[in-house]
Amino acid sequence: MIKNMLFHKRDELANVDPLQIKRFPENTMVPIKPTMPLIDAVTTRRSIRGFLPESVPQEVLEHVFEIAQQAPSNCNTQPWKAYVASGETKENLRRKFLARQQNGVPGNPDFSYVSRFDGDYRTRQVECAVALYNEMGITRDDKEGRLRAVRRNFEFFDAPHIVFLGMEREFGATIALDVGIYAQTLMLTMQAFGISSCAMGSMRTYPDLVRETFELDDQTGILLGISFGYEDPEVDANRTQTVREPLNNSVMFRD
Ligand SMILES: Cc1cc2nc3c(=O)[nH]c(=O)nc-3n(C[C@H](O)[C@H](O)[C@H](O)COP(=O)(O)O)c2cc1C
Repeated sequence: MIKNMLFHKRDELANVDPLQIKRFPENTMVPIKPTMPLIDAVTTRRSIRGFLPESVPQEVLEHVFEIAQQAPSNCNTQPWKAYVASGETKENLRRKFLARQQNGVPGNPDFSYVSRFDGDYRTRQVECAVALYNEMGITRDDKEGRLRAVRRNFEFFDAPHIVFLGMEREFGATIALDVGIYAQTLMLTMQAFGISSCAMGSMRTYPDLVRETFELDDQTGILLGISFGYEDPEVDANRTQTVREPLNNSVMFRD
């Protein structure tokens, strides 16, 4: 299926398809060129909530973010700001996010958001949570299990990297749209390089921690985080599959 791949060779395993590798010890290799066409990236991307500890090499990271810069935006304003935390920086942030969440510190998000969905939207929200909880072995009455699932967000799902996406706080919904388009461009590019991801609205909870870490001024608002790295296939949550509505529930065609 995957042809003409170029690998970042670290040892004689160079001919092994990286997408097939179960373990990812430091002597294996990662793709430095995209390994799939666009439609495959769109259809195979899923939210991944458990990662191997190995980092994405910096040269691959830069390549991926360079490609994502091609995302379109209102008047080409390119309003997105991406703050990538790895290594010690990521660990410190993870510790701080987790401590706040565990201590029940109320969030201070920069942007308002819908906290409760109704009707069809609520049904889909519940189905999505149930799909995840089923894979994690969390039953309906398992309050502790549900708390554990929420906590995994604040552990960044053990990802070696997390990117926080933001923009000027005064920009409204129309410009947030540009950042959303950028986010998906980024995640699809990652997918094409064999890098898995999970968009996380939950990472808007404590934006001050991101501003402190990256020494940002108060005008920079944080919209979401994206945990990313190489999927750990042993993590139960990663078997989660979500479904989509039939086309006619979302799209209307008229001649
Ligand atoms: C903007 C946005 C925010 C999200 N926030 C979270 C989150 O905080 N935690 C989480 O586990 N998943 C989060 N997700 C992942 C969604 O649950 C997931 O995209 C959806 O269930 C569809 O599944 P799929 O990504 O596997 O196709 C988010 C996705 C998006 C696009």
